[in-house]
Amino acid sequence: MLSYVNNKFCSLDNAKISVNDRGYQFGDAVYEVILYKDGKFLDMEGHLKRLRKSMSRIDFELNISDSAIKTIIKRLVTENNLKYGSIYIQVSRGEYFRDHSYFNMPLKPILVILTKKIKEKFKIVVPGIKVFTTLDTRWSNPDIKTTQLLPNVLAKTEGMKNGFGEALFLDDNSYITEGSSSNFWILDKNNILNTRSLDGKILAGITRDSILNCAKNKKIKVLEKKISLDDIKTCKEAFITSASSFVTPVVQVDEMIINSGLVGEFSNLLRKTYLELNDWFISKLNNISNLKEKVLIVIPIINNYKIFKDSFYYRDNIDSRKSETISLVNAMKVNVLEVLNIKINNFSSANLFNKNKLVYISEVIQK
Ligand code: PDD
Repeated sequence: MLSYVNNKFCSLDNAKISVNDRGYQFGDAVYEVILYKDGKFLDMEGHLKRLRKSMSRIDFELNISDSAIKTIIKRLVTENNLKYGSIYIQVSRGEYFRDHSYFNMPLKPILVILTKKIKEKFKIVVPGIKVFTTLDTRWSNPDIKTTQLLPNVLAKTEGMKNGFGEALFLDDNSYITEGSSSNFWILDKNNILNTRSLDGKILAGITRDSILNCAKNKKIKVLEKKISLDDIKTCKEAFITSASSFVTPVVQVDEMIINSGLVGEFSNLLRKTYLELNDWFISKLNNISNLKEKVLIVIPIINNYKIFKDSFYYRDNIDSRKSETISLVNAMKVNVLEVLNIKINNFSSANLFNKNKLVYISEVIQK
């Protein structure tokens, strides 16, 4: 079937879109569906107009005119022998190395047009259907790490355009939920670390979890609670956490300057602790040469730094693989202080070491 993909005609089998297409990675794309009925496109003008409007609403435009789009569609319909069918048009912002903000990115929108045959003639009279009601949840499940990231992309880019490094989302009551691609923290006036609890309004950050444990390990008090703008006015420090930014100090929120605009010592300490722990892992894992076909689970136990450093387990049945694990650990010249019998409930892997087929479990398991 002939299609128009990535700004050129090609057979559907040979169609190629980069996996760095922002539509694929962020939902950073718009689309239309137009029905075709025996020589006629239903509401073509309305659909093309809305396509332009959708693009403009999310801040990009396509340099291909409506008449050129119509010409492409007509050729597809003719060559694909369409009598009844639908035309799917999608335009993504373009393709580039993944980053939420598209500010200053060299992007060219990517147009895709596909046709689908509908065998039967559209019926004039059809039977009724049953429908049900459900809550409008579009999109109120930020705790699910989906690629539906357009609001995050737009917020981050608006921030970048105005000189901010991150955008913080507010809930209906003006409490901060989280950053567009990070979790948010403050050190409050009583020297207690605050971060929002996992109340369904934030992503359960893997880094957040590690930092919670780093903080506990460093005897810093932590309270998982909602953070208001007033809390920020009186806080001593603030920072964000994420896999890509680790711990990044925040010195200003809107007009509010934190810690006289200076990076605070707690933020620094947590960043340092976090990076040192991960450096240790990476250096150890780089030394493993004989693991090509095996999967290794690395369990950080941050509450006890020594055990954290020296605990390695195979996947599957931990008990039966215990001796194998010990010899592996010995082969790595790691000093095993204690082999814990740990049950893994929640397999949250971060594919950090995918190349070697290694899996890093960043879930922190209490001793
Ligand atoms: N984003 N909240 C949101 C909305 C995020 O997108 C992220 C991470 C986090 C922090 O989660 P973690 O510590 O597991 O990385 C919180 C990644 C870095 C991204 O989309 O690039």
